[in-house]
Amino acid sequence: MIDSKHLQLILAIHQCGSLSKASQKLNLTQSALSHQLKNLEESLGVALFHRVGNQLFFTEAGKEFKDKGAKIAKELNALEQRIQEIKESQLKRYIHGYSETEAQRLSNQANSIAEYLHFDSVWQPGSTILEVGCGVGAQTVIIADKNPDCKIVSIDISKKSIAQAQQKVQEAGMTNVEFRLQDVNELIKGKKEIYDHVFICFVLEHISEPQQVLQNLKSIIKPGGTITVIEGDHGSTFFYPENDFARKVIDAQVKLQQGKGGNANIGREVYPLLSKAGFQEIVVSPRQIYVDGTRPALVDGFIKNTFTAMMQGMSETVLKEGLVSKSDYDLGIEGLLRTAEADGVFSYTFFKGIGVNL
Ligand SMILES: C[S@@+](CC[C@H](N)C(=O)[O-])C[C@H]1O[C@@H](n2cnc3c(N)ncnc32)[C@H](O)[C@@H]1O
Repeated sequence: MIDSKHLQLILAIHQCGSLSKASQKLNLTQSALSHQLKNLEESLGVALFHRVGNQLFFTEAGKEFKDKGAKIAKELNALEQRIQEIKESQLKRYIHGYSETEAQRLSNQANSIAEYLHFDSVWQPGSTILEVGCGVGAQTVIIADKNPDCKIVSIDISKKSIAQAQQKVQEAGMTNVEFRLQDVNELIKGKKEIYDHVFICFVLEHISEPQQVLQNLKSIIKPGGTITVIEGDHGSTFFYPENDFARKVIDAQVKLQQGKGGNANIGREVYPLLSKAGFQEIVVSPRQIYVDGTRPALVDGFIKNTFTAMMQGMSETVLKEGLVSKSDYDLGIEGLLRTAEADGVFSYTFFKGIGVNL
């Protein structure tokens, strides 16, 4: 009979002293609030308030409800906070973390290579697209802009990232994106919604059961709908001048990710993963980001602010795990930055796979 919504309702009336103020606080119309209150009183079979004109006074049952309800609400809040803490400790397993520097890096990454990854990220107008692991919305704003007549539902497990993504979309004046704090594994359970298309970028590399996730996602795509997967592959990296320390740093990151159940070389597995998950008509296209001195925007945007920044961002964890010594790490970063000089070359390949749910 009593649920947490009722607790909020009674406590809001108590705190605000009137139905009109409580309805504002709860973001309800006054008539919706009165209706809910009436239903509660009816289901309990007892009045919780005496009404004298516009004023409400608690009855004996109402006082008991308010006093015990306040205690229960406090415990519920504490429980929610504890669950959030547990969730956040799980998030710490995510190797890139959720710092401001990483948020900036994700935006630099998305913007510097947008034309390579997204020239064909276009879906039929009217489609609903699920974006899995939107992070701070770096890809979201690009796909939402290219698909103004599609609805994008973007999910992530990080509350902080979702808030940043929401702000980014608002600042860009976009209204076709809805954000949800949700784990991709939870999403499947209720199977309440079915999507026209799914978009998942730089997420499978962090997940220990990527094939299972793809299989589950397939079950929430409409027949004839598609999935688009984008992943990198650290093994595709080559550069000039060659540098053993830079290689060591990249290898250390691959090992670190592996140790946390992920795979930094997953790009080469996009085809087999999609195929084993049951998708049809799969097309995987490698998107090579080749950078030399003739492409200054990529020298800064990709070599320095995306790839090297990623390696720098993980230095603390890599060093803590003893995967490479501090001096070798520093020399490796120097080696990567050296490729950004006038005679340097850097190349990295992303893999974009599209599969159909037939
Ligand atoms: C490298 S970031 C990529 C973010 C964004 N797609 C981009 O390309 O900028 C990976 C994101 O996946 C999210 N993520 C990891 N595991 C997830 C899960 N099980 N369900 C939903 N999101 C998840 C992380 O919180 C993080 O924001």
